[in-house]
Amino acid sequence: MSQDAYKQRAAEAAIEFVESGSVIGVGTGSTVNHFIEALGRMRQRIDGAVSSSEASTRRLEALGIEVLDLNSVGTLPLYVDGADESNAHLQLIKGGGGALTREKIVAAASERFVCIADDAKLVDVLGAFPLPIEVIPMAQSLVARELVVRGGRPVLRTGVVTENGNIILDAHDLEILQPAELESDLNDIAGVVTVGLFARRPADVLLLGGPSGVRQMQAD
Ligand code: A5P
Repeated sequence: MSQDAYKQRAAEAAIEFVESGSVIGVGTGSTVNHFIEALGRMRQRIDGAVSSSEASTRRLEALGIEVLDLNSVGTLPLYVDGADESNAHLQLIKGGGGALTREKIVAAASERFVCIADDAKLVDVLGAFPLPIEVIPMAQSLVARELVVRGGRPVLRTGVVTENGNIILDAHDLEILQPAELESDLNDIAGVVTVGLFARRPADVLLLGGPSGVRQMQAD
């Protein structure tokens, strides 16, 4: 089976966490696309979704799922999203698809964050996947210099403007041994909008699809 088939397994397992009559927070990416497909098959049982990107919004609406403004729904019971990496504490690197800011907002507004991924995403130490950072354009050089000071090698994601009108710097070569501390530190750099580290608010549940099925991990 392919990694995509493992993503699909994890995504379909997340449906068990969906409560009837609720509004669901929906992330972005190829794993979430499988979740949206599964959600579409039970759309009569939910009241709608809050989406973390235009791409997910289009997919949800195409399946007849109403997309609601986060400001109109308050706290969400459930957020389902993928990740680029997870450690055993369910601290994540996200933002490979560039939607990290809205993802972090919806995650923060949700009581439970169920992360869905294929088994290749589980790592001992975060950082092999370059850490995405959304930055106000005029701060590009400043933030890049600050990343170099911290041992990173920032690379501008060329041709990408986020849905918030910003750029993304991908920080390579970081061995992230203290994710929550680094998240706070990077968030404090002037011009940083969002760091793709989800460590201070990690996932609550990680569903990892693999050759023998879906492994469920809980936050410690
Ligand atoms: C989107 O910005 C990301 O945070 C995704 O959640 C992450 O890149 C995982 O993507 P895939 O599900 O496509 O692997």
